[in-house]
Parts: sequence; C-alpha cells; structure tokens
Amino acid sequence: MDNKLQAVIFDLDGVLVTTDELHYEAWKKMADREGIPFDKEINNRLRGVSRVASCRIILEKATREYTDEEVEELCTFKNDFYVTLLDGIKPSDALPYARETLKALKDAGIKIAIGSSSKNTKKILTKLGLLEEFDAIADGTDITHSKPDPEVFLCAAKKLGIAPENCAVVEDALAGIEAAKAGGMTAVAISDARRSEIADERIDTLKDLLPIVLG
Ligand code: BG6
Ligand code: MG
Repeated sequence: MDNKLQAVIFDLDGVLVTTDELHYEAWKKMADREGIPFDKEINNRLRGVSRVASCRIILEKATREYTDEEVEELCTFKNDFYVTLLDGIKPSDALPYARETLKALKDAGIKIAIGSSSKNTKKILTKLGLLEEFDAIADGTDITHSKPDPEVFLCAAKKLGIAPENCAVVEDALAGIEAAKAGGMTAVAISDARRSEIADERIDTLKDLLPIVLG
C-alpha cells in the first residue's frame, strides 16, 4: 500500500490495449519488404520507444546503411499500414480489467492520465471509447524525447497538477519503467516489463493495481 498516490499515469500500447501486437505486425511487414530479420524479441525492444527510434533498432540487422530520408519512408510505410490495423479496434479490445480499474480509481478520487509515446494515442482511445475517461493525456505529439526519458510522464503529471512523487506509472516497457523512475514516480510493471529489476511493483493484470494504489 502506498497511500501517497494521488494519480495513475497509464501507458497505452500493451497496457490498456493490445496494439503492441499491431505494432509488431506493421513493423514485420516493413522488415519483410526490406529483407531484414525481425522477431518478437527485437519487438520487445521497441516497446515505449518512438517510431523513428524503433525503426533504427530494426535497421541494426540490415546489411546496408539507410539515409534519414529512407528511414522516414520506412516509418511512413509502417505507420500507414498500422493505422489501417487500428481501424479494426473495437471497445471490446481494451485489455482485461482496463475499464473496471479506471472506474474504480476514479470512484476513489484518484486522477488518471495517459503517458504514451504514440502519436496515434487519441485515435486509439477514440476507437476504444475511452477518450473522455482521462483527466489528462500526454502523448507522442507533446514530447521531444521518448522513453526512457521521463518527459511524457512529467508532462502528464503537470497536466494533472500532481507532483511526480504522488504519481504511479503503469508500463509494459522496460524503457517506460526507466522513464517512470527517472521522473521520480512509482513504477508498476505489467507484461514484458515484469522482468525489470528496477520496478517498484509487478502486476499480472490491471485489477492488481487497485490494492497498490488504494491500499
Ligand atoms: C509506443 C509503443 O507506445 O508508441 C512503441 O510502445 C511505438 O512501440 C511508439 O513505437 C510510437 O507509436 P506511434 O503510434 O507514434 O508510431
Ligand atoms: Mg507500452
């Protein structure tokens, strides 16, 4: 129990919705086109990382150098396909206990925010029917440094008007856990981030968040 907590900042992709799988599918299409090996292990390194930085990680396995213009084209190719995949998202695609957990936090007077590196955040929240649920949204359009830099979480805390030390962050990305700690927040790891050695808490599902925040 940590009753100093007044707000929870949620990462989006891989925490509230399985768009991490769609990112994988879209990057795989790009990598296959270019003849670059790409698998789920490499994909785990892209969690929380910006689009361009993700592309550069995939290109580590390429057999030639890519110019900045080519990287931009690869990102556009990936995102154009990714956005068509997002069109298929329905409210029922929210991950287990997402809606119930958000409601329980709000009912208890805890502020809730999004802290995501994605520039597609508002589109995804709209498709899920969750856009109006949050007290603040900080996303890839608000920041210049992506996770593990704490900028997106500090931006969310500022929009909420809550001090970082009174915020918990829920993350599926190792880079996101690092960002939360660098921002002075309580870092709660779910999914792939459970292997983090620096997370403050590890949860199996979102409902496990409630005793941590509410006591
Ligand atoms: C993060 C994902 O939420 O957003 C990353 O975990 C992704 O994998 C990043 O690269 C940027 O997303 P987008 O939608 O702006 O390409
Ligand atoms: Mg994520």
